[in-house]
Amino acid sequence: MTGGAGPEEDRPMAEVLAIKGSPRAGGNTDALVDEAVQGAFEMGHHVTTLALREHQFSGCVHCGGCTRDGVCHVKDAMQEVFGMLDRSEHVILGAPMFFMDVPWKVKAMIDRCQLYWARRFVLKTDSGRQHPGGNFLALLVGGTEYKTLFDAPRLVLGAWCVTMELELQMGLTLRKIDHKKAIQEHPEALVRARELGRTVGDPLRRSERGRGGRV
Ligand SMILES: Cc1cc2nc3c(=O)[nH]c(=O)nc-3n(C[C@H](O)[C@H](O)[C@H](O)COP(=O)(O)O)c2cc1C
Repeated sequence: MTGGAGPEEDRPMAEVLAIKGSPRAGGNTDALVDEAVQGAFEMGHHVTTLALREHQFSGCVHCGGCTRDGVCHVKDAMQEVFGMLDRSEHVILGAPMFFMDVPWKVKAMIDRCQLYWARRFVLKTDSGRQHPGGNFLALLVGGTEYKTLFDAPRLVLGAWCVTMELELQMGLTLRKIDHKKAIQEHPEALVRARELGRTVGDPLRRSERGRGGRV
């Protein structure tokens, strides 16, 4: 989905990429992403929505190609996703916890971003992203109450953000959200997701950086 400028047209418009990381269409994280997209849209941002489940791609095969020329040599749907990442300033990700981390498709996307790491840290060029320094808003849910539920994604997403020149905001980290429509029983979480979408383009306060939020 792609949306144009929203009502508040005097504000600077940014490119926002909203990624749906769950294999379950119409589930909890899809609903949170939809709210955040609506919030970003209301602020006049240009939003592109990407459901990873609709795209066929593999993980990184460690062929070494990107460390030679800064290009990913695996020719599949990730080539289109690289273009979306290059154009976006801010990124929103909704993802459920699968065995204490993001689902494989999200991790595969992250691993395929090795080319940005190679450009910056091996080839010493810029990343190729058009608007580095934007925000990354994570909206994460899990079915359990484990205290450590979001430890692994905080590290994984944090490492990805360093590579992608994004500022990590663990915007929502919600426990005990399990059945497909469970998030609908938490309207305050949906409201919060929309608010976070509205502020996705704002500079993060120090207290928000790398931090999780609860509602
Ligand atoms: C394969 C699989 C693994 C899961 N692993 C965890 C887990 O480790 N911890 C947890 O709290 N929930 C776990 N869950 C539950 C999901 O995180 C939960 O159902 C979530 O609400 C799904 O979000 P969605 O509707 O956006 O797909 C798992 C679910 C599946 C299918």
